[in-house]
Amino acid sequence: MKTLIAPSVLSADFARLKDEIQAVEAAGADWIHVDVMDGHFVPNITMGPFIVEALNRLTDLPLDCHLMIQRPEKYVEQFAKSGADWISVHPEAEGDIPGALELAAKHGAKPALAIKPGTAVESVKSYAGKIGMLLVMTVEPGFSGQKLMADCLPKYAQAKKLFGEKVLLEIDGGVKAENAGSVRTAGAQVIVAATAIFHSKDYARAIGALRGA
Ligand code: DX5
Ligand code: ZN
Repeated sequence: MKTLIAPSVLSADFARLKDEIQAVEAAGADWIHVDVMDGHFVPNITMGPFIVEALNRLTDLPLDCHLMIQRPEKYVEQFAKSGADWISVHPEAEGDIPGALELAAKHGAKPALAIKPGTAVESVKSYAGKIGMLLVMTVEPGFSGQKLMADCLPKYAQAKKLFGEKVLLEIDGGVKAENAGSVRTAGAQVIVAATAIFHSKDYARAIGALRGA
């Protein structure tokens, strides 16, 4: 399988959102990653369903919505109806996480689980059969531009063993050209990148380097 690249709009220039989305699309992006933060689960506030709805009108690329929020079960329906294709929720968050995954699927989004660096893959194995993707974070959630925690990389092989071929494995946090090779070798199939793409001068080149093209 080709490595999928999901630019995170968190580092895009929001005054030029349409241009930025069109530019990463033209540069070969496979998905658009949307980092949703509530100021409670993480110490930062970003965007909500309004932005997802706007992004959905700007691109046909799948919208990969990473919900770093408490009580995701209250909001997944709204995100799905706004055009989220994938919805990732955190098991570390307060709330009904299995319920949030069920609601995401019920409203037409693909359910996924996202785990923080300190959360063991083993601890979420009961979610097998309920998710189509596992997002393994390689930075503490909250901000782009942090350094990848390389000690998280063995988690992809562990996840492959526990979840099998059917569950996609996504990496999020600190991936850049210099470490993308080891990230792919570790078994990540979807690479999220904010800084490495949106802070580069040549988006196509940045995406190609992450993919190993
Ligand atoms: C962090 C977010 C990431 C972040 C990645 O909480 O989930 O998606 O934007 O940013 P970079 O690629 O700059 O580490
Ligand atoms: Zn993310």
